[in-house]
Formats: sequence, C-alpha cells, structure tokens
Amino acid sequence: MNIGVAGLGHVGLVTAACLAEVGHHVVGMDVSTERVQDLRRGKAPFFEPGLDLLIGRGLREGRLRFEERLPPVVEHSDAVFICVGTPSLPNGEADLSQVEGLAVELAGCLDDRYRVLIEKSTVPVTTGGRMFRTIARLTECRCDIVSNPEFLREGSAVHDALNPDRIVIGSASPEATTVMREIYAPVVERSGCVVLETDVATAELIKHASNAFLATKISFINYIAEVCDAVGGDVEIVARGMGLDQRIAPDFLRAGIGYGGSCFPKDVGAFAAIGEQVSGDSALLRAVQDINRRAMRRLIEKVRSELWYLKDKRIGVLGLAFKPGTDDMRDAPSLTIIASLLEEGAEVVAYDPVAMPAAKELLPEQVRFAGDPLEALHDAHAAMILTEWPQFAELDLAEMKNALRLPIVADGRNVFDVGRMRDAGFTYLSMGRPAVEQ
Ligand code: UDX
Repeated sequence: MNIGVAGLGHVGLVTAACLAEVGHHVVGMDVSTERVQDLRRGKAPFFEPGLDLLIGRGLREGRLRFEERLPPVVEHSDAVFICVGTPSLPNGEADLSQVEGLAVELAGCLDDRYRVLIEKSTVPVTTGGRMFRTIARLTECRCDIVSNPEFLREGSAVHDALNPDRIVIGSASPEATTVMREIYAPVVERSGCVVLETDVATAELIKHASNAFLATKISFINYIAEVCDAVGGDVEIVARGMGLDQRIAPDFLRAGIGYGGSCFPKDVGAFAAIGEQVSGDSALLRAVQDINRRAMRRLIEKVRSELWYLKDKRIGVLGLAFKPGTDDMRDAPSLTIIASLLEEGAEVVAYDPVAMPAAKELLPEQVRFAGDPLEALHDAHAAMILTEWPQFAELDLAEMKNALRLPIVADGRNVFDVGRMRDAGFTYLSMGRPAVEQ
C-alpha cells in the first residue's frame, strides 16, 4: 500500500521505516530540511538500535523516500500517519497546535481520492473528532480519521513496532478499518499480535491510560522504596514478591530516580489535566508526579547526608540519557539532578556513552564532560549513577575506588549488588535498599 508519514520524530520515523520494511511504499515528510537531507543519505537524526539499517534498506529497495513538503506525500498515499509533536503547555495540557496546523494543511492537499488520516501522536481524547470537524469545514473531499496509538519504547523501538503486544485501531468507518487491517496485515502475520478494533475516543484513551498506568506503577514502587529507606527492607525483593503475582506482573517495578523521557512526564501531565476538566479530580496522577519529583530529590539528599555540604564538592555523574539505549535527554532526571547539584555549588563531571552531544546542548556550561567513566569519577567526592547503562555495572570496582577521592557511590538506578559494594569498601547508597556505610 502507498503510505505517507507526516512528522519524522521517534514515532514517525520508526513507523515509516518499519512499514517500508514489511513491504509498503512509504513517503516520510518533515519540515526540517536538514533532517530530510540526512535521511535521504540514510542517516537517522537520533540513536535508535537497528533504525539506520531499516532506513538504508528501504531507500535502496525503493520502498522509502523522504520529502520536505506535504503535497507530494498526500498525492502518493492512500493513508497518511500523523506523527507531529504534542508537547506540554505550561499548565500540563497537550499543545495541539502542530496537529491543528497539519489538519488544515492536509485539508488543502486532499483530492477526489479517499484517504485515511491516522492519528499516531499521543493526543487527548476527542482530538480525532476535532480534527475531522476541522477538515470537514475546509473541504468536501472524502477522508476518515483513525486513532492508532503507538506503544514503542525508545531503545527498542524497531523491535516494538514490528512485534507489538497489540495494535489498536479506533475508527468510526468500516472503509477506514479495512485500510488499517491491510496496513498491519504483515505485522500481524509475523508477530501474531492481537488487533483491538474500537471507536476513535476509546483508542485515544487506551494510549493515555496505558502510559499513565505504567508511570503510576513506577511511582508506586518508588513510594515503596521511600518506605524501605525509612524503616528498612529491600525494595527489589518487595518488587519481586509483588511481581510474582500474575495480576501485578514484574515489569515497571524498578525503583530509582523516577521516569523521564518524551512520553511519561508529558502524558501524565496531559491526562491529569483531562481529569481536572472532566471530574475536577486529578489527585491520583498528581501524587504520581509528586513521588517522581521526590525520587530525584531523595538521591541528592543521600549524597548530602554523606558530604554534609555540596558546595565545592566534585560529583562524578555516570549516565545522562533518560534511560539506557538512547541519546534522548528529554525530561531526563539527570537534568533536574545536575541543576540542583550546581545550585548547591557542586562541581559536576559527567559521562554518558551516547547522550553527551545532546546533553551539552541542554546542561549549563559549568558541567564538564569526561571521555570515559573513570575519568568522570577522577578525584570526585562521590559518584552518582543516573542511567543504568550496562557498561557501568561492568566497571572494575577497584579501579572505581582508586579513581574516586572518597569511596562514595550514590546509585540512582540500583545498578550494583549491595553485598559486592560493601565488600569492595564503598559507602553505597541506593534507592530503597540497605545503605552501606564505611
Ligand atoms: C514509554 C512507554 O513504555 C511506551 O509504550 C510509550 O509508547 C512511550 O513511553 P519510553 O519513554 O521509550 O516508552 O521508555 P520506558 O522504557 O517506558 O521508560 C520510561 C522511563 O521510566 C525511563 O526514564 C525509565 O528509566 C523509567 N522506568 C521504567 C523506571 O524508572 N522504572 C521501571 O521499572 C521502568
């Protein structure tokens, strides 16, 4: 099938590359000339395992191309995926101006051929209906709006898009649903995933509800970690004990400095804003946000409790990306934590295996960057681990201890085994697990 993808961020580009991979003819479009030019040369604008390979193959085999303007994309396509950004407004609501702008532009490009316009960006419930009305006011050309939320995770986005747990199709039109089934037939065939067909509003809600629930699960375990820190207990064993109950399931019960990234912070805020509008009550999700903010503060308090004052103390920070496997710094806990360290007068030397170029754009100038983990820890009063990159867990503990001025490690992602850190002679402070004081 001929498919268009408008907006080549993480979701749009992965969608375009994966749909080309399964045999469709895809044209991707982005307003950034630089991004489109890079993509034409096969270069992805961000780090995502396996994506360059798929883009290269799609380009070589003529199933994938890139444009800077919408009209050729619509002309090519039977279905157009809408993957533009939906950032947060200052009050937490989603800013839908890019979605509105694209709806208006799409209306201007439609012709006498029927098109399916597919909402893939995460949007508040009722957005599909609003888009349809906006387009219907501007043109009589035939089209339908479908909600088809994306559940891919950064770092495993290609795998997730080709092997989804479920495909959700929210549609009010049997004609549009038939097109959607055809688009996803190769993915369903190879993955055997469930296809859930529903109305547009319900599909929109499934996405927001899923992300809000996962964020709630993380904050719940971080709340348990707070209790463990206060009264004793090991949050990892509590999480294991909980996760063995099939109704709870073990995933997303890793305690630490909380969630970041392009989705959870934004989606929890937007869903809470919807809650306030419809029922005046967003207490549950506000608590999720509060616990997440507290998780970052708790790690700083642990370091402060050892170093007394942070002023003029050097902190070696390992990990900047919001999670391993990506260079994405959006809403990364490291940004908040490093800002607090600097505010208290600490000196920060940071290392991340892939996110340093992106981090340099966002972090204050005083932050210094190291060429490897041990250089970041050199002569530091304490190490802080903010992202659980696998190579940090493999560091030689004796070398780490030699590099540091004081053998203090504050581990915001529970990377190391508590017993090993004790035996290696560290003061080891992790999240919701027994503290080791030397
Ligand atoms: C998330 C959703 O998982 C995905 O379905 C949606 O489409 C987009 O948002 P992503 O943001 O890529 O994906 O990352 P994810 O792996 O879900 O992690 C989000 C954040 O939660 C990270 O900061 C991670 O470190 C944190 N996290 C995750 C925890 O703190 N504990 C956990 O147990 C799991």
